[in-house]
Amino acid sequence: MEPARVHITAYGCQMNRLDAELVRAILRAAGAEVVEDPGAANVLLFLTCSVRAHAEDRVFSNIGALAARKQREPDLVIGLLGCTAQQYGERVWERAPLADVVCGPGRLAELPALIDQARAGRRARALDPRRGEAGAEAFGPADSRLDGIEVRGREGERSDRRAFVRATRGCDMFCSYCVVPYVRGPERSRPPRAVTEEVRRLVDGGVREVMLLGQAVNRYAGEDGGHMWDLADLLAEVAATPGLTRLRFITSHPTALTPRLASVFRDVPAVCPHLHMPAQSGSDAVLARMNRGYTAADYLDRLAMVREAAPEVAVASDFIVGFPGESEADFEATLDLVRRARFAQCFVFKYSPRPGTTAARRYVDDVPPEEKRRRNQELLNVVSQVAAEENQRLVGREVEVLVEGPSPRPHLNADGQQRRTHAGWIQWRGRTRCHRLVVFDGPPGLRGEEVTVRVERAAAVTLFALFCETTA
Ligand code: 5AD
Ligand code: SF4
Repeated sequence: MEPARVHITAYGCQMNRLDAELVRAILRAAGAEVVEDPGAANVLLFLTCSVRAHAEDRVFSNIGALAARKQREPDLVIGLLGCTAQQYGERVWERAPLADVVCGPGRLAELPALIDQARAGRRARALDPRRGEAGAEAFGPADSRLDGIEVRGREGERSDRRAFVRATRGCDMFCSYCVVPYVRGPERSRPPRAVTEEVRRLVDGGVREVMLLGQAVNRYAGEDGGHMWDLADLLAEVAATPGLTRLRFITSHPTALTPRLASVFRDVPAVCPHLHMPAQSGSDAVLARMNRGYTAADYLDRLAMVREAAPEVAVASDFIVGFPGESEADFEATLDLVRRARFAQCFVFKYSPRPGTTAARRYVDDVPPEEKRRRNQELLNVVSQVAAEENQRLVGREVEVLVEGPSPRPHLNADGQQRRTHAGWIQWRGRTRCHRLVVFDGPPGLRGEEVTVRVERAAAVTLFALFCETTA
């Protein structure tokens, strides 16, 4: 049989992007070739997200669109992986009859064998049990075989010098609207040594920025020789890795934001002043129905604690508009929270009922679509206004940027002109330590470098800057 040439399309959150990297690594280790062009592949994998109905619909329609190609190339293997596979379980083939491989997010380490089976002509499936029908042991340890393999597979391919590292897997928070606890299983923390070891190897391979991932990562509770580590312990230890200059952690849950964690922003220099802590709503009644476990005032108290320890911390949030029963007054409370909390960045989502969740069972999806759209837009307007005001405070300051690569779209320069500041320079894009997006003109070869730039102009999302120097 000719070797497998695999193409992967990934949707959704950072956790899914990490899973996509791990899948690439594990397949390479098993002898497959990973290709950029889906047309050149004989195995097409879709790593799906089921947090909102939209993402799910998109993947099913993308798979459906492969019908003609599958007729022409009967040996083509199509795989539906990740949260949607897990969410649909046995019924997944009703919606994706063309899929040959179906694999849940907890079982991705089995992919090479599943693909072999499908290439030999037999449909293959690996799913975890449904949550509630089995004990937590059935979901396997936090540190799966997948996390072990990627350490080797990922070395040497990181030109932007940033890497995701899993700290926790799954979620036990059961926010009423959310499928994650069902599809990613119970919350499990990786042992601290597994995390520190993985970070050390990545940094030895050239990585400078590490983002520790978990659905409620600040609930991290890892065990090492009878001692329990919380996230503050883990961050302090990881930050001590020689050569690591930037350490972030996402996503934080407001109920688990401790004073100890807040003080890490002040006391541990490698930890970036960036906190992603979704509020979801500014209305106490909505927050209660969401099962979030805090009020808007509690949320602001936590923020105050963080800012008292480290005033520079840029805070990002997620919001859901149009949750069942959300009145105009509830929505106004959300706008009010955004204005008070001074968020640097927010992701706004329209509520989408997810099968199997408490909210879908208990509450009628009663905010009309056009009203959800209006609230979505109005919230985005306020978010942009606040973010632009916050960004304005950086104008005139020198900031450190880790360069991600050339700017995909040419932006205007700081002076509003579209011209090169020097012949041969290109427009780069990167992020500040506080995770703000920066574009600037600079000499070639800056990808993966840390540079100092001076902010000349600020918009809601982007800072425009002038190159100063490459940081030693
Ligand atoms: N509908 C809309 N948005 C949702 N999110 C999670 N579940 C839903 C849902 N059913 C949003 C939350 C979460 C982000 C990742 O996705 O804001 O923080
Ligand atoms: Fe979903 Fe809530 Fe867990 Fe986040 S904390 S993954 S929103 S259940």
